[in-house]
Amino acid sequence: MSRPLRLTVLASGRGSNLQAIIDSIDTGRLNAAIVIVISDNEDAFALKRAAANKLPHIFLDPARVSNSQEYDLLLAEKIKQQGVDLVVLAGWMRLLGQGFLDKFPDQVINIHPSLLPAFPGLNAQKQAFEYGVKYTGCTVHFVDAGVDTGPIIAQQIVPIDPDDTLESLTKRILIEEHLLYPRVIQLFSENRIYKDGRKVRIK
Ligand code: GRF
Repeated sequence: MSRPLRLTVLASGRGSNLQAIIDSIDTGRLNAAIVIVISDNEDAFALKRAAANKLPHIFLDPARVSNSQEYDLLLAEKIKQQGVDLVVLAGWMRLLGQGFLDKFPDQVINIHPSLLPAFPGLNAQKQAFEYGVKYTGCTVHFVDAGVDTGPIIAQQIVPIDPDDTLESLTKRILIEEHLLYPRVIQLFSENRIYKDGRKVRIK
């Protein structure tokens, strides 16, 4: 087996996707190692999960700098120090600028709780639910400087049942996120993901 893929996980909140990645590593389904968890929110439960799993973790305070470009510089520096293969956004609430992304070409991915390009941005589950679509789901994509606009790597469909509530739908999407994200990261670890313009091919 090749060496474990070195991951940085960026998380601003609850960290359930972080937990799914940790669990997949622990059970041997994902050949990766989380080298650091970084949060821009001191109270993020993701940091507590990292601590409970004895993973290196830091709160990188946005108040330390005066604008988002400076924050991106600080963040890139921290990540570079660790020698990282893939930067995994898991509920990361800050936009990353082109300057940051240029330092990690095709190495930054995100998960979004809708079938992109439908319903980008905040509250995607609610947007889909209220729109009345019959199918929604989740998407793993490369990150570009837009909001949820990067090349799509993988998607999982979740049908919306007539008796769904927003809560029940959100829960079912999250279950699929927790399956999809570690699977996609494992594909990176096997070197099977290729970007061809906007198209992403899986070998
Ligand atoms: C997930 O729904 C993810 O798709 C979105 O933010 C949420 C993060 O949840 N980008 P968690 O912090 O991983 O529990």
